[in-house]
Amino acid sequence: MEKEKLIKKYDRQVDTYKRALNNRTLARWRTELLNGAHGKVLEVGVGIGSNFRFYNREDVNLTGVDFSPEMIKTARKTASACQMNAELFQEDVEELRFNSDSFDCIVSTLTLCGYSHPTQVLNNLHNWCKKDGTVLLMEHGISSNFLLSNTQKLIDPLFVKAVGCHCDRNITNIVEQSHLKIERTQSHWSGIIQLIWAKPDK
Ligand SMILES: C[S@@+](CC[C@H](N)C(=O)[O-])C[C@H]1O[C@@H](n2cnc3c(N)ncnc32)[C@H](O)[C@@H]1O
Repeated sequence: MEKEKLIKKYDRQVDTYKRALNNRTLARWRTELLNGAHGKVLEVGVGIGSNFRFYNREDVNLTGVDFSPEMIKTARKTASACQMNAELFQEDVEELRFNSDSFDCIVSTLTLCGYSHPTQVLNNLHNWCKKDGTVLLMEHGISSNFLLSNTQKLIDPLFVKAVGCHCDRNITNIVEQSHLKIERTQSHWSGIIQLIWAKPDK
């Protein structure tokens, strides 16, 4: 899908993400994942800022990036409501450039499903993360259940059309193919949701 079309698709999803803020299961996973985030933190595909209330705002200096202007506009409001120290800008994550070793922690929640080249994005995160830093991921992808995974493969083209992202990506494989080193994982909903704590392997 063309980038402009994709951006507009995400622009129209702001209200969906606002409603999802009330999802207690997502909130529990976000709490667990982001518990240890500290220092200079980069969040890619920041959306409306659904993670902001789960950071320890005294310990986090956040840079957030999203290519959807509507998401970034809403994320700025969320940051101000949470009194978060955040610099938020509209940019395509696949075009982003930072110096090596720029961040103590890099966060991606529910974004690897959307990139054209997810492994390349992870390799960039690897490069921008400090040697002793952490990369925190909460991603959705293909289930370990045969029936569910077959359904996901079948509906993937429709899913992309409706939502803009893939529902049949193998997240663990994608991370394993990158330069990151997986330290810990948690799997939920028959493998559809993966929480991954990773480190750069430098
Ligand atoms: C499924 S939403 C997740 C939002 C947020 N991370 C969360 O956990 O609720 C995916 C977000 O990634 C953004 N996104 C997808 N592809 C992107 C890209 N190439 N560059 C920047 N942002 C992107 C979308 O605009 C959207 O806000």
